[in-house]
Amino acid sequence: MPLDIAPFQARRARLLQTLQAAGGGVAIIPTAPERIRNRDTHYGYRFDSYFYYLTGFREPDAVLVLVAGDTPRSILFCRTKDLEREIWDGYRFGPEAAREAFGFDEARPIAELDAQLALLFANQPAIFHSVGYEPAWDTRVTEALNQVRAQARTGCHSPSQIRDVRSLIDEMRLIKDAAEIATMRRAAEISAGAHRRAMRTARPDAWEYEVEAELIHEFRRHGSQAPAYGSIVASGANACVLHYVENDCRMQDGDLLLIDAGCELDGYASDITRSFPVNGRFSGPQKAAYELVLAAQAAAIAEIRPGADWNAGHDAATRVLAQGFIDLGLLEGSLDGVLESGSYRQFYMHRTGHWLGLDVHDAGEYKIAGNWRPLVAGNMLTVEPGCYIRPADGVPEVFWNIGIRIEDDALVTDSGCDIITIATPKSVADIEAVMAER
Ligand code: GLY
Ligand code: MN
Ligand code: MN
Repeated sequence: MPLDIAPFQARRARLLQTLQAAGGGVAIIPTAPERIRNRDTHYGYRFDSYFYYLTGFREPDAVLVLVAGDTPRSILFCRTKDLEREIWDGYRFGPEAAREAFGFDEARPIAELDAQLALLFANQPAIFHSVGYEPAWDTRVTEALNQVRAQARTGCHSPSQIRDVRSLIDEMRLIKDAAEIATMRRAAEISAGAHRRAMRTARPDAWEYEVEAELIHEFRRHGSQAPAYGSIVASGANACVLHYVENDCRMQDGDLLLIDAGCELDGYASDITRSFPVNGRFSGPQKAAYELVLAAQAAAIAEIRPGADWNAGHDAATRVLAQGFIDLGLLEGSLDGVLESGSYRQFYMHRTGHWLGLDVHDAGEYKIAGNWRPLVAGNMLTVEPGCYIRPADGVPEVFWNIGIRIEDDALVTDSGCDIITIATPKSVADIEAVMAER
């Protein structure tokens, strides 16, 4: 499908306005470098999220420069055409075609960047870049700045401030535009299909990696470029390891399987977790724990609406879980006592969600001036309570090694929220019905 460049142009225009409102200056936003995996083999290339957000351009060795002022300008620096390299590595736009195709005001060869930066910095009040993110870029920017300073006797002013550009872009990235929402809905749909496929694949004696392979198959066959993060396919006790990624155990009859997996589509992440019995039927204790996490998730989702503070969902989920841990005989004491002492953290030790977007743990602050940020329409977040019960003294044995997380992706709407991962089976009845199709 041809790229719709309008959203990228609109974002550049907005950032230029923001830069101007912040006093003006030049912003430098490089894409990610290619990285060696071993000897002469690279990791699969993934562009930088900030750069992509503003350009839609996927090649490595590229830098966006925005110049705020009376005549705001966007300039792409990128690789030049090179027929020899294109025979080996594939098509590259080259500056002229890139300018045309992506709608930049100017485009230049990447080799000219350093010399051009020194010229572009002249008589500007500030430089905006990702301060401290890559030491090499800090050095490069400072060197260009020093070249301008060396021209002082010609009457040229050099920028007096170096500021972080990310915080300005983060505020934009927190509110998804229509193009982003459409892509994220599609990513969520693909991932939901992958979880359904996993439910139809898992069975006692199969390997966790067999299920992981089905997830990847489903992602790729719908055009997703890669998993958005390392898929977690964790059976039995592995489900109590929050970042388990080995996925190399054999699933046992009677185990629960926790799958945390989502695809990345055109740069955007989806992030879904489901937990279900390998043999297709929840046992009594598994069902009790599962229904508890489900109720906690429902309580958190009920808090998602414009104006609600970021933490309301976490507080609601934690309250439900804490009461449930008492009711199941996992904890002793009163609800207030358990919440106050934090003893519930033995079984629920993470937070209930995070921003979601180009990065799975997406950009954006969670607090403003010390207070939790109020949600606004266009925010995208995950809702992912869980319970992880390791064998321990005082913990009834029937619950040992039950690890459950239920995670969906929520778009804040004008009136509440829309769960964009809704097509992923979630109730006990729905999961058992899908698994019965095996
Ligand atoms: N899959 C990463 C997370 O849920 O935060
Ligand atoms: Mn998540
Ligand atoms: Mn997840």
